[in-house]
This record gives sequence, structure tokens and C-alpha cells, in this order.
Amino acid sequence: MPSAALPATVRGVNSTPLGFFDSGVGGLTVVRAVQELMPAENILYLGDTARLPYGSKSPETIRQFADEDVRFLLTHGVKAVVVACNTASAHALPRLREHYRVPILGVIEAGVEDALADPKAERIGIIATRGTINSHAYQHALAQRRTGLIIHGQAAPLLVPLVEENWIEHPATRQILQVYLEPLVDKGIDTLMLACTHYPLLIPVLKTLLPPGVRLVDSATTCAQHLQRELTRLDLLAPADQTGTLELYLTDLSEQFEQLARQFLKKSPGRIRRAVLGG
Ligand code: DGL
Repeated sequence: MPSAALPATVRGVNSTPLGFFDSGVGGLTVVRAVQELMPAENILYLGDTARLPYGSKSPETIRQFADEDVRFLLTHGVKAVVVACNTASAHALPRLREHYRVPILGVIEAGVEDALADPKAERIGIIATRGTINSHAYQHALAQRRTGLIIHGQAAPLLVPLVEENWIEHPATRQILQVYLEPLVDKGIDTLMLACTHYPLLIPVLKTLLPPGVRLVDSATTCAQHLQRELTRLDLLAPADQTGTLELYLTDLSEQFEQLARQFLKKSPGRIRRAVLGG
């Protein structure tokens, strides 16, 4: 795997875009949170819609896809990369950081820090794709930072297709959520980590199904906050007086993805371009 040098523009405050990638358009929940927090940042987003979902693929395949995604972003000269996909963060982040010199952030670290920001957090539930749960990345990151935690990971593979069908309020979604949540609620969780790009859209339903007092940690918001701290630390923030732009690339374009992009972003995604990877 090649080691990409930092683009020359990555020095000091600059308007070079931030690069985001996800298996599809779900990572736009992270983009939305970043746009709210840092409206001056220019953003280049790659959704690998031709090859999603990543959540059911093997670790090796996810690492290969993530590598190709990062290379695409680097050829567009981004100043930092955000792995806006929990499954790719879980399986590929350490290797990507080894191979590329540009700052690369995932969604796990920030979520874990936020979950543990509450000193009373003891029983932590995690819902995510099968790939993320099986990687144990969240479980390890939590256990490393605090001993004595009781951690329960629950794979919830049906939630991504339900959200993509926009069945957010559908009784079938409530029922399936109940099945996934029951073992976690039985174990008395005090915190639930939404460890998948799509799940922030389920927050209103989740709130009605969980016992009062269970704290929800969503990786989109926490990742945006973490990114802001990192960009400040690295002196890479965009000039505050500019209005950030969003350039959206997908490896497969269809009407459904355009609609979904609007749903995740909660506004028009603008022009979407087709990305060809590995060029
Ligand atoms: N983006 C993925 C994640 O956050 C969910 C969709 C998929 O499985 O590709 O884990």
C-alpha cells in the first residue's frame, strides 16, 4: 500500500477540503453534524454506494475498500480524512493511520470518550452492524479506558435497510428495535451507543422505547466535536469568514441514493458526481 505524503496545503489555517468517506450516504449524518459545528469547512464526501453494505463484509474486504476510499480522497488533496463509517473505523482505522501521513479520524474514539464522559456510566450497550460488533473495537476501546464496565454489544443488521427504506416510524421498525433492545434493557444499561451512521435517524423512536435515564451516545455529533478539537490542535481550521461547500461523490448513482442523501443531510445534497475508484 502506498504512503501518501501530506499535500503542500496542509500547513496552518487553510480552505483545503476535509475528506469524508462511508460505505454509502449514511456518513452524511456525520457531515451534517460537522457542517453545524464548523460551517466554514469545505467538505469532500465519498460514498461507496456501489459496494455497500460494508457491515456484512469480511474485515479484509473492508480494509481493502477503505484503502481505496482514502486514496480517492487523497488524490483530491484533502487536508484530513474522516472515516465516517463505523464498520470501516472498526476494521480499517489502525492500518490506514499506519499507511497514510494525513490526519485520519474515525468515529469510535470520540463516541467512547463521550460515553465515558459520564462518570456514572457503568453498563454500556452498543448497537451496530455485525461487522462492527464482531470487531470488538468499541468493546476494547471502552474497556481500555475504564475498568469494571459491563459492556453488551448487540448486532442490529436489519436497522440499516429499514432506515434506508425510510421506515423510521413504521411499526415493523419499532418491533425489530424492541427485539434488539430487549437483551440490553434486561441487563440494565445506563448508556446506549449508536455505533452506526444510520442510527441517529432512529433517535426519536429509540427514546420512546428505552427506559427513562438511558443516555444515548451518537457517533455523528461526537465525531464532529472530536474533529473540531483535532483541527484546532493541528492548526488546520478553515478561515472562519468563509462559507463551506460540500462536494458529493458516489461510486454508484441512482435516484434512491439522491433521495437518501437528502434524508441524511436534511437538505439538498446539490450536484452529485460519480466517483471511479482505483484510477
Ligand atoms: N456505514 C455503516 C456503518 O456505520 C453502515 C452501513 C453499512 O453496513 O455499510 O457501520
